[in-house]
Amino acid sequence: MPAVPYGWYAVLRSEELQPGKVLPLHYFGRALIAFRGADGRAAVRDAHCPHYGAHLGVGGKVVDGTVECPFHGWRFNTDGRCTHAPFADRTPKVTIGGFPVREHSGLIFAYTGPEAPSWEVPEIPEATSGRYATPIDHVHRARLHVQEMRENIVDESHLHTIHRQPTPPVQDLRLDGPFAETRGRFHRRVLGMDIDNTFDVYMYGPGVMVVRVHDSVLSVTAVALTTPIDERASEMRMLYYVRKPAKAPFAAPLLKLVFRATATAEVRQEVEIWDHKVHHPRPVLLPHEKGIKALRRWYAQFYPSGTIAGQPFPRTADRDETQTESRTDKSAATRIPVGRD
Ligand code: FES
Ligand SMILES: [Fe+2]
Repeated sequence: MPAVPYGWYAVLRSEELQPGKVLPLHYFGRALIAFRGADGRAAVRDAHCPHYGAHLGVGGKVVDGTVECPFHGWRFNTDGRCTHAPFADRTPKVTIGGFPVREHSGLIFAYTGPEAPSWEVPEIPEATSGRYATPIDHVHRARLHVQEMRENIVDESHLHTIHRQPTPPVQDLRLDGPFAETRGRFHRRVLGMDIDNTFDVYMYGPGVMVVRVHDSVLSVTAVALTTPIDERASEMRMLYYVRKPAKAPFAAPLLKLVFRATATAEVRQEVEIWDHKVHHPRPVLLPHEKGIKALRRWYAQFYPSGTIAGQPFPRTADRDETQTESRTDKSAATRIPVGRD
């Protein structure tokens, strides 16, 4: 599998990118920077200066909405174009590579792929709703492909061993172009109480997944942001939005503490497994594990057709980063039931 499936990936939370700051990043096998233009628009671009190779995110600064190279002072705007070079008769016609960027739901997304994006990540209402507490924010890194991080949600057997379900839950996987949904029920024992849960999962392309879990005590929305770092490792950033109890909103911090203690330990346990597992192109699956196969078929759309393993990093062409409003045709929805019948 190429290390960087085509699609939208969250690279930062909005609050991490303050105006006037240049942040060094490393995703998609590339050294990158993020900064904001004079209008506040976020940009994610390659880090190295085309003049002489300095890293714009190490000592670079923002001047009038452009990033200024620390070495000889060349400046680049949010589209990557050089706008100023000291002592040059004419500004050099050079551009640093970069990505189409969107910002909403408290997140900054970058798009990878050879074409302009044809679909968008929908807004995540919990991120801006006053009815949810500020999120628990955990960043995990593992020596694993992002696709396998996603497969975890339809790996029903691990819900028994890692997440202590009596039996693997039944799920329905519905596929709709770059989007997919799955729903199910599970059971948990928290602080000595037996609690039945429902979960609704929304997948938006290869790198963004929203899981809404409800039970009689707690409503939590987990935003799972899986982003390739390079051909060896991926990041999974988990943002857990705990709903404030309507009658006792002040109890939200306590609920966060309880949730953090139970759920996040399980994620750490699976990250350790991920760090050491290998990818089986043809795993030995049991009949109730066919969701993994279905998810792999769906995920294949994010790879270039005729993909050659070992060519992991499609270079993103410089392009006009105008907003794209087009969405996938929802009428072509298909439904693939998975799990035990
Ligand atoms: S290396 Fe960036 S301006 Fe010279
Ligand atoms: Fe899991």
